[in-house]
Amino acid sequence: MKNDIREILVSEEQIQGRVAELAQALVEEYDGRTPTVVCVLKGSVMFYTDLLRHMQIPLRLDFMSVSSYGAGTTGGAIHIRQELTTDISGKDVIIVEDIMDSGRTLNLLKPLLLKRGAKSVKIVTLLDKPSRRDPAVTLEPDYVGFVIEDEFVVGYGLDYAEQYRNLPYIGILKPEVYAKS
Ligand code: IMP
Ligand code: MG
Repeated sequence: MKNDIREILVSEEQIQGRVAELAQALVEEYDGRTPTVVCVLKGSVMFYTDLLRHMQIPLRLDFMSVSSYGAGTTGGAIHIRQELTTDISGKDVIIVEDIMDSGRTLNLLKPLLLKRGAKSVKIVTLLDKPSRRDPAVTLEPDYVGFVIEDEFVVGYGLDYAEQYRNLPYIGILKPEVYAKS
């Protein structure tokens, strides 16, 4: 698996350091409010569990799996593959994402959770690729781990064809790996 990686973009140490900082910022913002922290499966799973380990305040966990199709704000739709199991009405919700790319998924997910009665919804994303943003998307993440260039990345939850999610760092694949499939 390691042999397929051309370059490590964000090391395990860098990730762990930044995750602790983000958790600290969230603790300061949410202390005393018992937020519902939503993991957007599957890409966020590593980030989510590491983040929560550093958030020693009362909170609730919930999980969701979504995909978006269609373009931008109008005409785009969100497909819920796996639904939340708790009621978020009146709750302060924190969405934990792996990466914000076009931004279409979050642009549909945040309004959906607000429509369900969430008191507030904020977005924490480990990675942000602002250069890839759909011009129709005006929403910005509230907390960002690392801003990256327009490169396809894998590891620490992120996949290529469902593989590489278990790498402890964020890396860029060798071009020949794509050529094989
Ligand atoms: P969106 O384009 O912002 O809606 O992002 C949708 C999803 O695409 C993300 O949550 C990721 O699961 C996936 N994605 C976007 N960029 C990458 C990447 O570089 N590597 C792996 N998955 C990605
Ligand atoms: Mg994702």
